[in-house]
Amino acid sequence: MEKKELINSGKVKSVFNTEKDDEVIIEFRDDMTAGDGARKEVMDKKGAYNAVISAKIFNVLEENGVETQFIDLPEVNVMLAKKLDMIPIEVIVRNIATGSLVRRYPIEEGKKLDPPIVEMDYKDDEYHDPMLNRSLIRALDIATDEEVNILAEKALKINEVLTEFFKDAGIILVDFKVEFGKDKDGNILLGDEISPDGCRLWDAETLDMLDKELFREGKDSEVMDAYVEVYNRIIPDDEKVI
Ligand code: C5P
Repeated sequence: MEKKELINSGKVKSVFNTEKDDEVIIEFRDDMTAGDGARKEVMDKKGAYNAVISAKIFNVLEENGVETQFIDLPEVNVMLAKKLDMIPIEVIVRNIATGSLVRRYPIEEGKKLDPPIVEMDYKDDEYHDPMLNRSLIRALDIATDEEVNILAEKALKINEVLTEFFKDAGIILVDFKVEFGKDKDGNILLGDEISPDGCRLWDAETLDMLDKELFREGKDSEVMDAYVEVYNRIIPDDEKVI
């Protein structure tokens, strides 16, 4: 599949057209950012680890009935995907209270959230991804009420599938962020990526962090070891490509 013109360059991924107008190539770069892009470093092979982890997770989700944009992983850091018209909403699911939740509300750190919290934020770094509600989503004209229901339903299904998937790898899925978009027929599909960049993953025994929170806390030298640990635990030996 030939890479054509660049159509979007995000903080850590670049999206290119292909010769098919309903497919794109997503290149996972080695950049790592925090604070809405305020801090940026390059981490060797980070793009490849995130691409392979995302591809594995998208496959697991497809096997469990969640439609995603994933088609193929032609290179370790390059994903071939269905072209989506992305909805500018970050859907966050939380199983354990931590992060911005405990900074914003009087909820005890580590509290188990059952049922999980589903949060929707407006994806816009300039505005620091402010939290949305239904009337704000309507006013911004970014999704219909029915679509909001679909996003929440899909995010909760993803949570169910991935909580079990990570549990089998000795990892607690604390919280995560997903993004969705519409394909050419208007179907809502999971897009973007699911990797340690957008999830909080804790070792089930030690509760050690295995995700980007390490970078947010300035522990840059520990980040890649954590990502490699996640990769080693969830990618079976015969599927390892890095
Ligand atoms: O920081 P906060 O507690 O709101 O993050 C909740 C979850 O959503 C975390 O797993 C974090 O990695 C993810 N997230 C993200 N991108 C954002 C905001 C949050 O991936 N812009």
